[in-house]
Order: sequence, then C-alpha cells, then structure tokens
Amino acid sequence: MFNKRIKQIAAFSLVAVMGLFAFTGCGSKDDDKIVLGTSADYPPFEFMDTEQNILGFDLMIAEEIAKDMGKELEVKNMEFNSLLTALQTDKIDMILSGMNPDEERRKTVDFSEIYYLSKHYVVVNADKADSIKKEADLNGKKIGVQIGTTQEKLAREKFPGSEIVALGSIQDILLQLKTNKLDAAITEDAVAKNAVNSNKDLVLPGIEYEDEEGGVAVAVRKDSPELVEQINKTIKRLQDENKIEEFFDEAVRLSSENE
Ligand code: ARG
Repeated sequence: MFNKRIKQIAAFSLVAVMGLFAFTGCGSKDDDKIVLGTSADYPPFEFMDTEQNILGFDLMIAEEIAKDMGKELEVKNMEFNSLLTALQTDKIDMILSGMNPDEERRKTVDFSEIYYLSKHYVVVNADKADSIKKEADLNGKKIGVQIGTTQEKLAREKFPGSEIVALGSIQDILLQLKTNKLDAAITEDAVAKNAVNSNKDLVLPGIEYEDEEGGVAVAVRKDSPELVEQINKTIKRLQDENKIEEFFDEAVRLSSENE
C-alpha cells in the first residue's frame, strides 16, 4: 500500500519533470542557444547541400550574431510563408531569409538594420527571350512568385491583368519556368543571377525593380530592442570588417558547387 503510493508519486514526478523538459526544451526558451528560422530554397542566401545541411550568406551572418551573443545557433527550415508566425509563436528567435522589412511586416515584428542591398529581377525561359523584353510584355502572362513574398505583392500590383502563380518554394517556380508552365518569375537579384548561372535555359531580360525598403534585414519578435541592438552591432562589425561582401561571394561560390 505504502509502496504503491511511492510509485504513484514517483510516476507523477517523472511526468512533471518530463513536462518541464518538454517545455523548456523548445528552443527559444533555452538561454544558451538562439534559434534561426529560414527557408532554405534561396541560393545564395540559404540553400541545402547534398547532405541536407543548410548553408548560405544568411547562415554565415546568423553564425556571427550567435557568436557575438555567446550562444549556439540552431537552425529551423520551413516555408518562407510560415516564418513570421513561427517567430511570433516563439518557435524561432530570429529570421534571416532574404527578408525585406516592409511596412506590413513591421506591424507584427521588429527588424534590424538592412544588412544587404537587393532588387527584384524578372527571369524568363530562353525560348521567350525574344517575346519578353520589357515590362509591358509581361501583361497577360503567367508570372511565378513565392507565396507571401514582396515579389508576390509587386507582381500583383504591377500586373493586374496577368495570372500570378504563387508557389511555396523557389525551386518549384524555376522548374515550372524551365518547363514553360510559367512565362516569367520574379525573385531577388542574387537569386535570379544564381538561377541563370546554373540553368542555361533561363535568362534575365533586364526587367528590374528597386525594393521599397532597399534590401534585406533580420526579423525578431516585436518589442525586443535589446536583441535588435545586439544584432545591429554584429551587422556593423561585419560591415566594418568588410565581411558582408566576403560572405556573399563565398556563398555564391558555395551555391554554384551545390547545384
Ligand atoms: N525578399 C523577399 C521577401 O522578403 C523574398 C524572400 C524569400 N526568401 C526565401 N528564403 N525564400 O518577401
């Protein structure tokens, strides 16, 4: 009888302790690590090598942020469109995913300074190089963009008469473009250049758009000024040490090796 009671208490404590572990073990609450959320379909910003390791420019920056904080970096890969919710629900602590800090997003999360200047480029299949040369040629065409991106917004605003096809990943968009299921795609300049370098059937017609914010920044939960401050310090240090360009070139090289 007494024994049974002890067993019950022991079992109960075990469950309680396990529960506590499950709770504290969920990443963001862990003090010695910082959890990065990214969408690894965006070379050279972030991509996967053949062993499913996530590499890229954003990863290099994130490593430096973690290092300056004395924390270990944990990486979670997900669709771009899930990143903001994951941040708000504490599944991740920061987003580096080639993300433009636009007005809409600023309502729900905070951003660091811009760490890389970028634009948006149109990519087309080489077969269409003669028929799609300027912006007006895209009217009425099928344009692929990644869901929930600034490029989706841009495409819908600029081409109300075109069919905008919003897909979850850049790889799917490029595949559809290569097989002529799409007439064009819009993505970040560096990603577009990377795509044409690794696919001879894709070309850049030279249709470009400035980004409204001018580039990409790190997103963190709203009202976390210390973290923003900390991240800005790392960005400043990397700029002063000319590391941003160096990392970027290195990421371009790595992504071309991993095609
Ligand atoms: N720059 C665009 C945006 O902020 C697209 C970023 C897509 N990133 C990615 N890793 N797929 O909406």
